[in-house]
Amino acid sequence: MKVGKKEKGVILAGGSGSRLDNLSRITNKHLLPVGTKPMLQWNVEKLVDAGVKDILIITGKDHLGSIVSYFGSGSNFKCKFTYKVQDEAGGIAQALLLVDGFVKKNEFFWVILGDNISNYPLPSLDCFPFVLMTKVVSDPERFGVLVDDDVHGDYIEEKPEDPESKKAVCGIYGYTYTKNFKGYLGSLEKSDRGEVEVTDLNNLILRNEKWITYELDDFEWSDAGTLESYKKVNQWDWVWK
Ligand code: G1P
Repeated sequence: MKVGKKEKGVILAGGSGSRLDNLSRITNKHLLPVGTKPMLQWNVEKLVDAGVKDILIITGKDHLGSIVSYFGSGSNFKCKFTYKVQDEAGGIAQALLLVDGFVKKNEFFWVILGDNISNYPLPSLDCFPFVLMTKVVSDPERFGVLVDDDVHGDYIEEKPEDPESKKAVCGIYGYTYTKNFKGYLGSLEKSDRGEVEVTDLNNLILRNEKWITYELDDFEWSDAGTLESYKKVNQWDWVWK
């Protein structure tokens, strides 16, 4: 399949933010500052820097007003925003059902989890319809972990107690809105933690589609969704420049 220009992006900014305790009690965690700007702005700018002009922001109903109030139409950020509401915090892959209508058939789009912060610039030149990013971390049990398996094919384990590898799957995904992709999304069921898991979606992609992985090992990447990781990203020099 020929992959077209990468001009659409989706940022997921829902969820309850409970792991940030008091900090997200009255605001959406994605509006909390990281260095000089709100967490979400880092990912808006990452997409715009990669040439993405059409950005869908998906969030819960409680804080949509504050997000729109800060980001507006997009004219101040050199892009155009579309906003959609995820009624319940039912997981990343459930939120992805909302991309329907925003992305067209067979169109490539980036998906970024709004609490992921990285100085890695999105790649522009490749012809793979599906893209994953990984980074070797010291605490893989907090993430989806990519296991290289030459015999059965690579797969991802979500938050394994005893990780088979240290390669965390970052919350930056490249997808193509094919018929198969829609089928995978529609077939997923909630996990034991009550969420429709992006890892289940990605495992179907790993098994059935043409995909590529980029390793972010020369860059900084972290989620900022726990008190510890929020503190960590705020200590990086480049977020203050
Ligand atoms: C989610 C994904 C996980 C991924 C992580 C990256 O975890 O489920 O696979 O490694 O984002 O930040 P969550 O933030 O929902 O715990």
